[in-house]
Amino acid sequence: MTTLDPWGAVKIDNYSKLFDEFGISKFDDLLARIPNPHRYMRRHVIFGHRSYDTVLDAMLSKKPFAAMSGFMPSGKAHLGHKMVMEEIIWHQQQGGDAFLAIADMEAHAVRGKSWKECRELGINEYILSAIALGFEPGGHIYFQSKSNQVKDLAFELGIKANFSELSAIYGFNGETNIAHMVSAITQSADILQPQLAEFGGPKPVVIPVGADQDPHIRLTRGLAYKVNMFIVEERQGQEKSFISVRGKAAPKEALSEIAKRTGGKLYEEHVDVFKRTLEEVEKIVRRVELQYGGYAFMPPASTYHKFMTGLQGGKMSSSLPESYIALTEPPEEGAKKVMRAKTGGRVTLEEQKKLGGEPDKCSVYELLLFHLIDDDNELLEVYKDCVGGTRVCGNCKKHAAELMRGFLKEHQEKREQARERLDEFGLK
Ligand code: TRP
Ligand code: SF4
Repeated sequence: MTTLDPWGAVKIDNYSKLFDEFGISKFDDLLARIPNPHRYMRRHVIFGHRSYDTVLDAMLSKKPFAAMSGFMPSGKAHLGHKMVMEEIIWHQQQGGDAFLAIADMEAHAVRGKSWKECRELGINEYILSAIALGFEPGGHIYFQSKSNQVKDLAFELGIKANFSELSAIYGFNGETNIAHMVSAITQSADILQPQLAEFGGPKPVVIPVGADQDPHIRLTRGLAYKVNMFIVEERQGQEKSFISVRGKAAPKEALSEIAKRTGGKLYEEHVDVFKRTLEEVEKIVRRVELQYGGYAFMPPASTYHKFMTGLQGGKMSSSLPESYIALTEPPEEGAKKVMRAKTGGRVTLEEQKKLGGEPDKCSVYELLLFHLIDDDNELLEVYKDCVGGTRVCGNCKKHAAELMRGFLKEHQEKREQARERLDEFGLK
């Protein structure tokens, strides 16, 4: 069985394994229902999800939902981080609440960054770029270490997470420092925070991540379930199915309140409800749970995107400067990196004309697809000309380099404007 390693950027060659082995659903099945899908959705860069239908339903019926992600301030923000930022911002534009965490506790505990560095990198690398890309002040940008709410929730979640479970996901062992473990559980608190009463209570929340991050999502979905007061499940009875509501640490009165409101049958530690849908019962249970001081969390949803390969063909990694382009890269340097990138071109020009290029193996094409060309038809033309052998790599790279230079220049101007707006986000 394949295991996904959330810390080391693994290349997932066979995405279909994720569907079969890990229970991730195909994003394609939802695509037709999304009003104006993001470029990453249209182009199948986002390929999978967990319960994203809950987010979509809320979006379509104008009910509350949110999107959140976090960034560890340990190095440069690059095009990979830009992908996640854009996904959060897109959800904000569709009416969702948006959350962006700077994982300074994680960077401090795991990467040994000083608090001062965390602050500087957090603002200069991640926050300025997120605002420049369109993150609006209605949303929430915060440093983990500054949020008592997140830290308190992390402590609470910690009661339901044991060492074996966390070590299976994160590879912890006897040598792992405790703060590292705290930062792992803090990430789960980041993910559940949008559902706290302070932000309007339980709601669908999507965490857009790379496929290797799924273990975090599964952990957090499990924790959400465990800290809740009630477990609501569909059961198969003799003739038809019914809904069972079990109270774990729930007060007796809360359970009888649920029996009353659902018209179900009350037992010692559970209520059986007939002739109601799962959604109806869940809704009632959530309301009662909140009334009795529980969290009533919904399991967080997720979307999974494919990774960009590194510009040299291997993996994109902050420790390999030639493999990525930082959002603060001088435009000239960014353009040069594109010119040096690995293409899907053939060995000779003749061969290229005869056989065509291989855009599927080309990091320049990837740049165009992920970042530089927004118009689908225009991209399709590039693709066709490449495989048809009429587009040659030299010119193609020049085109991409030009677009990259333009993007970086404009983005960096917007970053400078964002610097003047930090107070709108409560960051100054
Ligand atoms: N652990 C993530 C990283 O290594 C950062 C992170 C913190 C995060 N909290 C999060 C990611 C919540 C997604 C959701 O970059
Ligand atoms: Fe890549 Fe462009 Fe060459 Fe095609 S023509 S292989 S897209 S660089």
